[in-house]
Amino acid sequence: MRSFAGRDILSLKEFERNEFFHVFDVAQQLEPIARSRKNVDLLKEKTLVTAFYQPSTRTRLAHEAAMHRLGGHVTGFSDAKMTRAGDFYQESIKDTVKMLEYYGDVIVMRHFQQGAPHEAARWASIPVINGGDGWGEHPTQILTDLYTVLREKGRIDGLKWLAVGDMRMRTMHSLGYALSQFDCPITFVAPPDMSLTDDFKAELKQLSVNFKEADHVEQAIADADVILVEPVVQPDYTKSRDERGKEVGMTPANYKITRELLETKAKSDAILLHSLPRMDEIPTDVDITRWSRYWQEAFNGVVMRMTLLALVLGAME
Ligand code: CP
Repeated sequence: MRSFAGRDILSLKEFERNEFFHVFDVAQQLEPIARSRKNVDLLKEKTLVTAFYQPSTRTRLAHEAAMHRLGGHVTGFSDAKMTRAGDFYQESIKDTVKMLEYYGDVIVMRHFQQGAPHEAARWASIPVINGGDGWGEHPTQILTDLYTVLREKGRIDGLKWLAVGDMRMRTMHSLGYALSQFDCPITFVAPPDMSLTDDFKAELKQLSVNFKEADHVEQAIADADVILVEPVVQPDYTKSRDERGKEVGMTPANYKITRELLETKAKSDAILLHSLPRMDEIPTDVDITRWSRYWQEAFNGVVMRMTLLALVLGAME
């Protein structure tokens, strides 16, 4: 297996099956630190640089929390408008990263342009973690989701997935690539204008992913062991910021997971994931049901970022 030390985490397309399991093993070793709510000194000599060109609650703060839990330091920006990349100069990724690499030991970047973290990794002498790039990928989120499945169900292979939402979404791309390494059939349910692109379908076929598409969650939920939901009412991920207009649509029933649907159609032991933020696709009365696992995902999001930071910084083998 390739070492993670010094490695960029840009895409799950690059991940091999044994690498997923290695990451999950290390996560299980580090999880007690997060659970005890104490900080240790594993990364006390290291600094994380956060370069966020697009809004984030979870991804940026989970990386920062992970760094603090491991005793490391954090610097960076969460609003590129207050940097030279966001003003008159429109400073390039290359010029920005050529500075950031001296301010810390690992960079986590979120950007509205697909491929921006890959461009950063081209120029940086330190590891770059992709915190979500346009419609591209969101590898740390899907690693969090897979780890949640492993912890909640005790296995990944053999589970049937249902993925609901906008299939242009970066999480869906990372999910498709990740499931190519597991025995996990998946059904995608999306509005016609947000369905899997022909290019991505061809890629999934080439990667031997066992997938099909359906029009309505009711057609697919009964078989699912893992239900992963994303919004269909959402901002344009290719913009640095997309404000909510006066009118915002409601999620059609086809793409909504209600308590009634779960009670009448879902497997009793299925689990429901959502990386959040949400609109109305999972009503809040689902939160306190046996299916919901999105708050566990929030905790696991810190554990997973601790794991990736410890691995790429060479503190864990
Ligand atoms: N799930 C996720 O990426 O959330 P944020 O946009 O808040 O980081």
